[in-house]
Amino acid sequence: MTAIRPLGALELDIAAALHGAAFAEWGERAWSRADFAGLLAAPGTVALLHDGATPDGLALGRHAADEGEILTLAVHPLARRHGVGRALIAALLARLAAAGAAQVFLEVAADNAGAQALYRGFGFEVAGRRPAYYARAGLPPADAVLMRRVA
Ligand SMILES: CC(C)(COP(=O)(O)OP(=O)(O)OC[C@H]1O[C@@H](n2cnc3c(N)ncnc32)[C@H](O)[C@@H]1OP(=O)(O)O)[C@@H](O)C(=O)NCCC(=O)NCCS
Repeated sequence: MTAIRPLGALELDIAAALHGAAFAEWGERAWSRADFAGLLAAPGTVALLHDGATPDGLALGRHAADEGEILTLAVHPLARRHGVGRALIAALLARLAAAGAAQVFLEVAADNAGAQALYRGFGFEVAGRRPAYYARAGLPPADAVLMRRVA
């Protein structure tokens, strides 16, 4: 049995809690249960959950025509640096490719070196920059780096 499986419609609270725990250190707004419900209902969304002892990571993406997008990747702080993020992105990219995505895009905070290293490991390259893209509690907004991977 694989540790990665689709995020179920009854697991919205788990998803919201994981997202909040993962992004708290960045001061970014946690996605709510309603945010996840909306994304799961949208056409082309792929949502994956990783099970450790408890659910400890998630990745969301979507595809439309021949393009894919990574919407978020979140690993619980206690589960990091054990390959969970890498396994989730590998599984997500496989599903996006199977759905016909010839190229995949993502945005990541310009100062998030760890996540950028993870994505570079999958062949993503910087394709642009979006100034003041991320609102952060009590801090100035942060730039996003746009990354692209061609299948
Ligand atoms: C980024 C994140 C998803 C990584 O998850 P993870 O399960 O710890 O990642 P992995 O263990 O699979 O790491 C894979 C590789 O990515 C790189 N990497 C991951 N975290 C890193 C860090 N903090 N510093 C430097 N490199 C890092 C390394 O190359 C790592 O390989 P290695 O451990 O063999 O050196 C996790 O830290 C997280 O949830 N962060 C907060 C949310 C976030 O930044 N999401 C991504 C932006 S949308």
